[in-house]
Amino acid sequence: MAESQPENIQNFLAQAQEAAKVIKETTQKDGSISCFSHLDADGIAAAGIIAKMLQRIDARFRMRVMQWVDDKIIAEVTTDKPQLVILSDFGSGYLDLLNEKIPNNKIVILDHHQITGNTTNPNFTMLNPHSHGIDGATDISGSGVAYFAAKALDPTNTDLAPIALVGALGDMQDKYDQRSLQSLNKLIENDAINTGLLKVEKDLTFFGRETRPIHRMIATTTNPFIPGLSGQETQALNFITNLGFPIKQDDKLRALCDLNPQERKTLCTALADYLLAKGLHNEVNNLIGNIYILTKEEPNTALRDGREFSVLLNSTGRMDHPSLGIAICMGDRKTALEDANKLLEDYRKNINKYLTWVQEKPERLQEHQNIYVIYGQNTINEKIIGTISSILVSTLTNNLKPLIAFANIETENAAKFSGRTTETALTKGVNLGDVMRIASETHGGKGGGHNIAAGAQVPIDKIDAFIKTADELVGRQLNGEKLASNNNS
Ligand code: C5P
Ligand code: C5P
Ligand code: ZN
Repeated sequence: MAESQPENIQNFLAQAQEAAKVIKETTQKDGSISCFSHLDADGIAAAGIIAKMLQRIDARFRMRVMQWVDDKIIAEVTTDKPQLVILSDFGSGYLDLLNEKIPNNKIVILDHHQITGNTTNPNFTMLNPHSHGIDGATDISGSGVAYFAAKALDPTNTDLAPIALVGALGDMQDKYDQRSLQSLNKLIENDAINTGLLKVEKDLTFFGRETRPIHRMIATTTNPFIPGLSGQETQALNFITNLGFPIKQDDKLRALCDLNPQERKTLCTALADYLLAKGLHNEVNNLIGNIYILTKEEPNTALRDGREFSVLLNSTGRMDHPSLGIAICMGDRKTALEDANKLLEDYRKNINKYLTWVQEKPERLQEHQNIYVIYGQNTINEKIIGTISSILVSTLTNNLKPLIAFANIETENAAKFSGRTTETALTKGVNLGDVMRIASETHGGKGGGHNIAAGAQVPIDKIDAFIKTADELVGRQLNGEKLASNNNS
């Protein structure tokens, strides 16, 4: 995580003006726009920002959410012949495809992944932090990039700043001190605060501060991890019952956000004392961090807390109902929100089912020389494999070994791989984006992404060969080798 230089930020913002100009020129000529965005929380947030921006200028547009850029998108563009295509938050590795198949289409690419391929086509306008020396894995998300284009187009769109932060939280960019956001994300945070839509506070960072009863919130969060309470609802309930403040209000169990400052302090001190008594001094520092509160949202709903909001969006994308997430980002608080909350329940059930399945048999999670592999095959849904990989990477014994999980997509005769690694592995030279790109291209697939989180699609009969190559490549990175980049820019 390098500090972003002010001139890098200025250059990025100047390029946002260029992207806005192309969009504006198209709508002024009443041109049609086809937008495509990625299906995770960040991609949905980006889609919501872009759709709102286009709606506000009466643009003729359609929005589609996909898992990656492939021939399906190319076919749609070739059939529909839009005057402009906007791509947001898609992984890398598709520039060559666009150059080969639709080089004459006007395309605006709003992205934050490491760039690979030829970037010189004058029809393509790219807004990407990596072009300006800013790290897209930590300092701005896809929805943040979309936000800066929207703001450059019309300052009214500043009211979309909280949605851009929700995307950044979905991409786990709160990696700085006390789970803060920095660089371009910090600029968005300031916009959100200045428009009165966001409050950033220091508080306990457990997941579910708006919607979960306190003991369940403590028991279900893994970061911070509290031995004896994490994963143990009954013990967590005993713990908070003994603190002396009411745990119920009108027969309803209270959430963290319902506590007054004194009660919150009591809870915090008790947790810190508990950890210290166990000798876990470092965990105490981990208890408190930045909380992102969307002030205009109703208390006790998932939308009030930026992190809960992002999980809600993720569930709409990964459970095949991205339009619900997009509608929520655009302001729908009625049916879309109700339906999304139901979907979230199903999404959680699915995740639990898959986590249990992985842990049932040792051959489903295997340790190789330099990586771990989850063999999701025909059991895990390919749209949820990334979430499973994100959750399980922090539970592995050797944090230098990245986790690569895969699921089969029989209809496409392909396997979808999702790789995740740790900050520690990054400091030892691991870059999963390079590993996924090179290993997949070696075996007739496509892949790429961030250093810490990356993915790939490979032909089903190449699964084992791909795993072997990925294992070798990580080994080479851990030995200090920087793998060749194919960035022609
Ligand atoms: O799909 P998953 O969540 O595992 O993807 C992790 C990251 O890798 C995402 O940022 C995704 O956009 C990126 N990715 C990519 N190229 C692929 C697949 C995933 O850049 N072919
Ligand atoms: O395509 P996109 O960049 O939005 O996807 C990033 C994915 O990588 C998300 O699913 C996010 O959970 C994961 N990620 C991660 N750790 C990070 C950054 C991203 O697990 N530090
Ligand atoms: Zn993203």
